Parts: sequence; C-alpha cells; structure tokens
Amino acid sequence: MKIGILGTGFMGKNLTRKLAAAGHEVKVANSRGPETIAPDVLETGAQAATAEEALKEAEVVILAMPHTGFDKIRPLVAALPEHVVVIDISNYFPGRDGVNPELEAGKVESEWVRDYFGRPVTKAWNNIGMVSFETRGKPKGDPDRIALPVAGDRKQDRDVALKLVEDTGFDGFDAGMLADSWRQQPGSPVYITDLNHDELGPALASAERERLPRRRDLSAEVFAERVGERASPDADTVVRIARALFM
Ligand SMILES: NC(=O)c1ccc[n+]([C@@H]2O[C@H](COP(=O)([O-])OP(=O)(O)OC[C@H]3O[C@@H](n4cnc5c(N)ncnc54)[C@H](OP(=O)(O)O)[C@@H]3O)[C@@H](O)[C@H]2O)c1
Repeated sequence: MKIGILGTGFMGKNLTRKLAAAGHEVKVANSRGPETIAPDVLETGAQAATAEEALKEAEVVILAMPHTGFDKIRPLVAALPEHVVVIDISNYFPGRDGVNPELEAGKVESEWVRDYFGRPVTKAWNNIGMVSFETRGKPKGDPDRIALPVAGDRKQDRDVALKLVEDTGFDGFDAGMLADSWRQQPGSPVYITDLNHDELGPALASAERERLPRRRDLSAEVFAERVGERASPDADTVVRIARALFM
C-alpha cells in the first residue's frame, strides 16, 4: 500500500522500517525536513519526504507524533480524501503534551483526535512499548506473538490496520469501535504489557476506566524512580512494572 508516516521518533522510525521491509511504498516526514531524516530510518526502502509529499496519494496515513505536533499538520490531515485510512498511535501524557481539558474530563483520546481533525481515525500500535515494538515482533503463528488491539468506527479501516499490524510482526486484534478504545489507553491492562492474542480479549474486558489516569500517572513516577527520568528501560523491566501496575 502507499503509506505516509508523520514522525520519525521512537515509533515512527520503526514503523517506517518495518512497513517498508514488508513491501509497502512508504514516504516519511518529520517536522524539520527530509534532509534531517537519519539514513537508518530509510534503510529498508522508505523515502524521506515533507509532510505534504508524504500525504499526497497516500492510502494510509500514520500519525506517529505526540499531540503537540498536531497543530502544524491539522489542515493537511483534515483535507485528506474520505477513503484514506488515518491511524492514530498517540497517547496522552499531560506532563509531556500539556493539560488537555477535554481529555482530563474523560473524553476518549482517539475520539478527541478524530474530532480535532474532523475525520475518521483508527487507533493502533499505541499500546506497545517502543523497545518491545523494535525487538519483539515474531512470525505469524508463533504462540508467543504479542497481539495489538485495533479500534475504529469503519470496519474497512480496521481491516487495513489489522493487516498492517501483522506486517510489523504482531497479531492484530479487532477491538471494535473507537468509543471503546479507552480500554487500550495508558493505565489499562493491555498498555505496554505485551499480551498474546488469547490474553488480550479478557484484559481489554477487565479495564476499569476511572482508574486509568491515576495508574498512568503512577507509572510515570515508578519508571522515573526505578530507571531514572531520562533512561530507557529494557523491555522486560517495562513489562514487569506495567503488569504490576495495570493488570
Ligand atoms: N515511545 C513509545 O514507547 C510509544 C509507544 C506507543 C505509542 N507512542 C505514542 O506515539 C507517539 C509518538 O511517540 P514517539 O515516542 O515515537 O515520539 P518521539 O520520539 O518524540 O518522536 C516524535 C516525532 O514526531 C515528529 N513530529 C512532530 N511534529 C511533527 C509534524 N508537525 N510533522 C511531522 N512530524 C512531526 C518529530 O519530528 P522532529 O524530530 O523533526 O520534530 C519526531 O520525529 C506519541 O503520542 C506516543 O505517546 C509512543
């Protein structure tokens, strides 16, 4: 497929590498211009682009950036043709993104993204930690393959996202409508806990909405205490702490 990826950070870089390696025609942009995109991002065949170029003729657009980057790309995303599948991988962290009153009041994060851009979005890849995403993909059929939920209001968009999740080395799990996607937000039992397909359904069902913000904020404190404010924990440490707090 023709895929435009906005963001070359921890997640955008690996989405680009994996989806280009799977045979997709990937154009990728950051906020500073194509010449600033590191060669290893493009190693598997993706093309560096401006945001305008990445979105032109794309069948799928992946927003791989925090909410703080949305302002600059709002008109471009809002103007995409109706049929384009826009995939939101974002999570809301008030300490990083600034306080969003609507999200603080409990609005579902990806419904806020949908309304911000005024077009359908599908939520995927938001619940996998970056180290697990980079290193723990497995071939289809492996019993230990991690499964990732995909939520969105258009079945055809979910089907596209489910297939792309598979192409990145993870089982896709149809998690239904966007209104239910709070079940995969930070603080939920499926957030960075690396569950397989059989474990994912019961974990989504067991999420307790009112507990998510507190657990999300507690986890930021626990990670800072255990591994330091700026250090990147290894995948085992992330999963161990996340399972203790969120499940
Ligand atoms: N890190 C994780 O473990 C993880 C896991 C799952 C989901 N997520 C979510 O995924 C999102 C991205 O996370 P990340 O960790 O990959 O972020 P990151 O490392 O901070 O990278 C953000 C990227 O977005 C780009 N960007 C910002 N504004 C842009 C714009 N207007 N146009 C094009 N590119 C723009 C930045 O480009 P410049 O550098 O040029 O500014 C940068 O490449 C966040 O919402 C995060 O919560 C993160």
